[in-house]
Amino acid sequence: MKNRKFRFFNIIFFNLIFILVFSCKKNSKVSEHEITALIENSVEETLYRPNFHFTPKANWMNDPNGMFYLNGKYHLYFQYYPDGNVWGPMHWGHAISENLITWEEQPIALYPDDLGLIFSGSAVVDKDNISGFGKDGVSPIVAIYTYHNMEGEKAGEIDFQTQGIAFSLDEGMTWIKYDKNPIISNPGIKDFRDPKVIWDNSNDKWIMSLAAGNKLMFYSSLNLKDWKFESEFGENIGAHGGIWECPDLFPIKIEGSDKTNWVLLVSINPGAPNGGSATQYFIGDFDGSTFTLDKDFSNQLSNQNALWLDYGRDNYAGVTWSNIAETDGRKLFIGWMSNWDYARDVPTFKWRSSMTVPRELSLKKHNNTYHLKSLPVEELYHFVEKSLVKDSLSNNQINFELNNSIIGMTKTNIEFELSDLKHNIYNFLIYNKLGDSLSIGLDNLKNEFFINRKKSGKVNFSEKFVSNISKARALKTLNQLKVKILLDKTSVEVFYNDGEVVMSELFFPNGPMEKFNIISDDKTFKIENLKIQEFDFK
Ligand code: FRU
Repeated sequence: MKNRKFRFFNIIFFNLIFILVFSCKKNSKVSEHEITALIENSVEETLYRPNFHFTPKANWMNDPNGMFYLNGKYHLYFQYYPDGNVWGPMHWGHAISENLITWEEQPIALYPDDLGLIFSGSAVVDKDNISGFGKDGVSPIVAIYTYHNMEGEKAGEIDFQTQGIAFSLDEGMTWIKYDKNPIISNPGIKDFRDPKVIWDNSNDKWIMSLAAGNKLMFYSSLNLKDWKFESEFGENIGAHGGIWECPDLFPIKIEGSDKTNWVLLVSINPGAPNGGSATQYFIGDFDGSTFTLDKDFSNQLSNQNALWLDYGRDNYAGVTWSNIAETDGRKLFIGWMSNWDYARDVPTFKWRSSMTVPRELSLKKHNNTYHLKSLPVEELYHFVEKSLVKDSLSNNQINFELNNSIIGMTKTNIEFELSDLKHNIYNFLIYNKLGDSLSIGLDNLKNEFFINRKKSGKVNFSEKFVSNISKARALKTLNQLKVKILLDKTSVEVFYNDGEVVMSELFFPNGPMEKFNIISDDKTFKIENLKIQEFDFK
């Protein structure tokens, strides 16, 4: 542990020396203020720049946009403001990965134009060139996004959001905007945005889901240019504590069966279960025109009001990749790992925000109850470098002090299974010697999972960041539990029972987390199959 702390301060110390030497060499006068800024920047990079969650090199990022896969490359676009570290006029930033984990940032893909800023949307590969944008045998990629007209908004109009398209003939590197934009004008709805387009195989047409205030609207098209309104969904169904944003509709097989259901993701802000923004889901059927809730899912909704993809506070506006090969067949998802309650205030300055780890979604149905499960993509585990494995621990209290020579805690996977659980509280504590701690766990008295980040380090940048302890309902008292925890420098993603309940949250410690402990007043529960793994991304 001492080693690790020593290393950390060493890095900062040597950075400082480097800055001073450099400034002397140049024989220029560097002000104290500049030196402080450089030191802060270096501390921020060392302490807070995530190891395996995508962040832009600099400035503001929010929603993931336009994700598609093509020729061995995963493309991720994102809401991006290149001139500042808070939300501003939106562009689409761009990053590419061959493994979903290590990303290369690319030049900005879409800039605002006369029709407005470029808000969230999607992208599809038009293999058969039915849009006609293709050239010389090259199939176009078509991006479908929202135009947000600032002047219109400032003038108090309500029709300032419209939908536009652009196409790319070089695998998403450069884009040409359609000269007849907008392709869908505003029908008189203030919040009218975030088109997510899929190819509907059973009905041979493109389907667009669009957020429209407190509901969704579905459109269809044969050529991606002309769109026909089909139906609406959602008024008075599910959570409505805020407006609906960033929908995603797709078919998915129920695990262990041949039956296919349709999943509808809808992000909502505010109105999340633990405050601010989060993503709810619906299960049903889509007939090419209308989305109808599944009967069993309706029953679930009548007990729970809404079901959430992630009960933590930091997973928003997530959607799935398009054009994943049939031989792969996975539903791959990524979310923005922040919350509109405090996204602009988190204590990073050079850049703001990261994405969640990419996740594979699956649908489980058990006793007429659905669970939209998510787990980290398996590609992450190709980067495992060191493992600590314990089949079973007789002790009911483990206390791992981890350091670089064993396993670090800033690019880490922790898994274990608990059994013989009682009516008690089980606390998975992550902490450091500076007194920062993150308390994660199961309260089997209240039937709740929780994350408490109140003492996790820097928290006073926003009251809302620690206004409550995040909770997710466990439907009953649990006798056993499977836990998977992904830890980066400033985020924890917890997956219970193979991703049936997920909680993702940010934290900003004063020094790296170093220790892990499972604590309970129960002296007889069992810990099995404990695995602590450290990744190496070099
Ligand atoms: C969701 C959202 C979208 C919108 C974008 C603007 O976080 O509000 O509805 O398109 O962000 O940046």
